[in-house]
Amino acid sequence: MGVREEIGVGLIGCGRAGMIHARNLVNKVPGARMEAVADVNGQAARNAAVELGLSKWHTDYRDLLKDDRVGAVIVVAPTNLHRDIVIDSAAAGKHVFCEKPMAMNAAECEEMIGACEEAQVKLQIGFMRRFDRGFMEAKRLLDEGLIGDLVLVKSHTRGPSKPQPWMYDLKKSNGILAEVNSHDIDAVRWFAGSDYDTLHAFGGNYRNPEVRDSHPDYYDSVVMSGTMKNGVQYVIDGAAYVQYGYDSHVELVGTKGLLHVGGHKSDSVELTVPGDGTRMGFVKSWTALFEDAYLAEDIAFIRAIQEDIQPLVTGLDGMMAVKAVEAGNASIAGKGILSL
Ligand SMILES: NC(=O)c1ccc[n+]([C@@H]2O[C@H](COP(=O)([O-])OP(=O)(O)OC[C@H]3O[C@@H](n4cnc5c(N)ncnc54)[C@H](O)[C@@H]3O)[C@@H](O)[C@H]2O)c1
Repeated sequence: MGVREEIGVGLIGCGRAGMIHARNLVNKVPGARMEAVADVNGQAARNAAVELGLSKWHTDYRDLLKDDRVGAVIVVAPTNLHRDIVIDSAAAGKHVFCEKPMAMNAAECEEMIGACEEAQVKLQIGFMRRFDRGFMEAKRLLDEGLIGDLVLVKSHTRGPSKPQPWMYDLKKSNGILAEVNSHDIDAVRWFAGSDYDTLHAFGGNYRNPEVRDSHPDYYDSVVMSGTMKNGVQYVIDGAAYVQYGYDSHVELVGTKGLLHVGGHKSDSVELTVPGDGTRMGFVKSWTALFEDAYLAEDIAFIRAIQEDIQPLVTGLDGMMAVKAVEAGNASIAGKGILSL
């Protein structure tokens, strides 16, 4: 086999998630070469460039798109900007990795998919759980029939931190169904091997009483349930500001068995002393729990470009999750049980 082409990569959005990808791509991803960064916040762009050993940074991502050394971009700006950035990137001929949630609504997702198809560039969405070793092993065991036929997928993600102020505004954030539970929504669809059929969701604000008057529709806890088109049942629960840690878990119930995915332990040491029970560390952050999965998805993205194959997580996957978020929010707002 010949030597694979090296792919120059540009990062758009140098925040929390952006820097995870950049730190992977700068020296851990075979065939990738970090070339440029862009962030409207000049200080964030500069800090990223210095850390990554780059001599240049941009405050306007369109300048990064003019750089011929950049063959692919990682889009990690706030979700409401994904549509414009992805469409501009495709028009500039760059392959695109776009973080979840793909966009604010399904119509935007369709435009993004269309733009990438027209420009013949790859589009991968950041559902990194599909690259997590535990998730992949559970999927393999499920598909091999070890728990019989799948009956129910129960998936929850609960985050520890106080929401950022912009998250209280559902028009800006689409709520925690988008920000926190997009991953569960995708995982349910992936494990079930089927699209969402019926959906009923309930939300409530239990931990942020100070915004009940200013943002009456904000919810920090949600339960969403229903059936997939192939009859598999699902239950998703999500929460923000639980404080006790980052809590992500999936249970797959089959006709003949059960699979659990996800762990809580932050390390392998448990402390047991007289009178104090057993103490163990609880995972504090998604960055630690899915560290390997972020790297694996970055490696897969570069490989998809080099080998000209379809990314494992596509624009369609991103759009289907956004559709479920939209339906979930409509259900919480009073629309009751919905068919998708
Ligand atoms: N896959 C995951 O598990 C995961 C985890 C966290 C965040 N995310 C997603 O990643 C995206 C970013 O989230 P974050 O937590 O890193 O946010 P963040 O606020 O830490 O970072 C966003 C960065 O984008 C920059 N930015 C804003 N407008 C820009 C523009 N026009 N051009 C370039 N940069 C711009 C901001 O200045 C900021 O530095 C969101 O869509 C979020 O949902 C995904």
